[in-house]
Amino acid sequence: MKSRPFGATGRLVGEIGFGSWAIGADWGQVEDTDAIAALNAALDAGVTFIDTADVYGDGRSERLIARALKERGGERPFIATKAGKRLPRQTVEGYSEANLRTWIERSLKNLDADALDLVQLHCPLTDLFYHPEVFEALDRIQKEGKIRSYGVSVERIEDGLKAIEYPGVVSVQIIFNVLRQRPIDLFFERAKRKSVAVIARVPLASGLLSGKFKPDTQFEASDHRLYNRHGEAFDVGETFSGVPYEVGLSAVERIRKAIGGDAPMAQVALRWILMFEAVTVVIPGARNATQARANAAAADLPPLSSAVMADLKAIYDEDIRPHVHQRW
Ligand SMILES: NC(=O)c1ccc[n+]([C@@H]2O[C@H](COP(=O)([O-])OP(=O)(O)OC[C@H]3O[C@@H](n4cnc5c(N)ncnc54)[C@H](OP(=O)(O)O)[C@@H]3O)[C@@H](O)[C@H]2O)c1
Repeated sequence: MKSRPFGATGRLVGEIGFGSWAIGADWGQVEDTDAIAALNAALDAGVTFIDTADVYGDGRSERLIARALKERGGERPFIATKAGKRLPRQTVEGYSEANLRTWIERSLKNLDADALDLVQLHCPLTDLFYHPEVFEALDRIQKEGKIRSYGVSVERIEDGLKAIEYPGVVSVQIIFNVLRQRPIDLFFERAKRKSVAVIARVPLASGLLSGKFKPDTQFEASDHRLYNRHGEAFDVGETFSGVPYEVGLSAVERIRKAIGGDAPMAQVALRWILMFEAVTVVIPGARNATQARANAAAADLPPLSSAVMADLKAIYDEDIRPHVHQRW
């Protein structure tokens, strides 16, 4: 797998990573054995970047990663975790230095690590980005060696643009996929100019871009694709990228025709993201080894043709843009 430099950290990471929300919680039942097998399949396939968060399954995702890495031994991948969502309610004051330290200590313990490669503020309120003291606290914690670097995960592009005004912010994690194309307009150029790493999350639009869903597909009660379809529990943009399910399904049929060929749609969707130089790493989630392997293999696909790129832009502009473009 090809690697890309992770912002200004001096580290290189494989361009397809592993998103480990689904092995924590919120995606229906995922057994520990499947979760560990998924992690091993990804690492065996050359993945060197894992994204997690302290709240995925209340630490289960972090602990499973630590367990898999301990069992395998050898070189540790770059592990990005997140902090902030343990607050009962999002406030700026909640991101106090004391709270940040407590969350970081807990992640260190869960991940069985001496230092965290990357801590990302986990989609805080927009107002937080106007409080430099939060970033000064992160600078202090970094100097002590508890964290090697820090970044942000954001819902809105404007939050990312503000965040990268802080020189200590090495990365921005945003939703970017065939059904979420606004980062191309301005954000990528700004991030690139500042050598900020871009982590593309929800790359399969929660599985929609695998092309496997139908109008009557059933989701488990503990799967956010059922319980958060209209934003009932958290930002609706995290579920199917905020695209109404039926709208997404009909766009997927147009995408199927546009891409043709033999490669599975999920792999083409990931390869589409890699066409953008500003992206550092794509982090598809996977609930088993088969998915993890298939996702890593997307890195081997040849570049998409300019005709396919133009068709996917047209489908976005015509079908999807009115639903998402001005919202995030
Ligand atoms: N606020 C934040 O910072 C935030 C929010 C969301 C996500 N993230 C991060 O981004 C990562 C990726 O996003 P995501 O997991 O939400 O969505 P995603 O990567 O777009 O979709 C993942 C889901 O798609 C299905 N899938 C995966 N590979 C497949 C394949 N090859 N073929 C068919 N289906 C496949 C699986 O679910 P099924 O098999 O059940 O369909 C899987 O759980 C997360 O794991 C997490 O690390 C961060």
